[in-house]
Amino acid sequence: MYDLLLRQCRLLQADGGITEVDIAIQDGTIVAIAPQIAAIAKLVLDIQHQLVSPPFVESHIHLDSALTIGQPQWNQSGTLFEGIDIWRERKGILSLKDVKTRAIATLKQQAIQGVLFVRSHADVSETSLTALQALLEVREEVKDWMTLQIVAFPQDGIYGNPQNERLLEQAMEMGADVVGGIPHYELTHEDGTKSVHRIFELAQQYDRLIDLHCDEIDDEQSRFLEVVAACAIRTGLGSRVTASHTTAFGSYNNAYAFKLLGFLRRTQMNFIANPLINITLQGRADTYPKRRGVTRVKELWQQGTNVSFGHDCIQDPWYPLGTGNMLEVASMGLHVCQMTGKAEIDACYDMVTWNGATTLNLQNDYGIEVGKPANFIVLDACDRYDAIRRRAIAQYVISQGRLLAHTELPRTHWQPQDGSINQPNALALSRDA
Ligand code: FE2
Repeated sequence: MYDLLLRQCRLLQADGGITEVDIAIQDGTIVAIAPQIAAIAKLVLDIQHQLVSPPFVESHIHLDSALTIGQPQWNQSGTLFEGIDIWRERKGILSLKDVKTRAIATLKQQAIQGVLFVRSHADVSETSLTALQALLEVREEVKDWMTLQIVAFPQDGIYGNPQNERLLEQAMEMGADVVGGIPHYELTHEDGTKSVHRIFELAQQYDRLIDLHCDEIDDEQSRFLEVVAACAIRTGLGSRVTASHTTAFGSYNNAYAFKLLGFLRRTQMNFIANPLINITLQGRADTYPKRRGVTRVKELWQQGTNVSFGHDCIQDPWYPLGTGNMLEVASMGLHVCQMTGKAEIDACYDMVTWNGATTLNLQNDYGIEVGKPANFIVLDACDRYDAIRRRAIAQYVISQGRLLAHTELPRTHWQPQDGSINQPNALALSRDA
């Protein structure tokens, strides 16, 4: 007897193909995938030909600042830099309980919408390292239903304060999974370059991944991405390196951008764009035309570079909105990056699933295959395009072989306008309507 059996699944495969199968799970692992599985199970779910997909991957979020909107005040200018100033004030009163409560609430909000893998940044430029300690504890507390990676992120720069370099190394010793940085916010260009080199040194010394906030500014002269690319090529760290945001890439002249694309192709590094937030943060100093403030997602994708989309912020000093819904992120991404071709829309779905898993270096455990951990979601959709267009609901979320969340589908009934009520043939607006 299996633990869990899902019947009549439209299984989304890594190549975009769809097959009609049953899926059996035992002891947290996928043990059988076949057109029809004749067996009994402790729990049987009839999926009724809905889309079964690997879970969403949130490759870039700041859980330590999530849900602090308005504390101590709202970001009125909407700029990155007012956000940093507000956060500097708010992080002065962080406590373990404060960070953990907000982080776990956010993770649950994400999980019920099908997110089971998250990479979160933890600000390590405050001397108590409270945000990091709290998120390390959260990583342990949620591990039975959520995989959480933590980036040691020096929000104020490695060289912005005398103690920050030591704090970053302390974060490695405490167990952060990833080394972060913010070269464009270091005090000088030289400090920015030096910070990138230091991050690569730490990653090699402690055997950690790298994920930098890189060139998140509209300044076309902010060119630390080339420094990251050079370090990635020289160290061979390649796929273990991620450049987040890189919004200045959207402002570079084409002669420089095309040269840089060639270098990036050699690196095998990953990119994360955060379209929801960067369409609002960037371009604030522009009059018209206003730049979109998002990196060259389409061009990177076209040349085979791995790109994922992240949420970045949920109700914090940088972004007042956000729900944790990765299909909302993918939808904004395809709009801002003008990726409306069919293959491009499908690619945007991949950017919140498989590509995110690649960024997080999760390839061995991610995907719906026999022998892999049973992590997947059932979406009220036919395919990737349908899922993004209608922001399909994650009806079932299966984490490590167990049913983690079940969301009932809403049904809308068209009310007759002839005065009658409760007509038996009222039209139900659902996926099949
Ligand atoms: Fe960020």
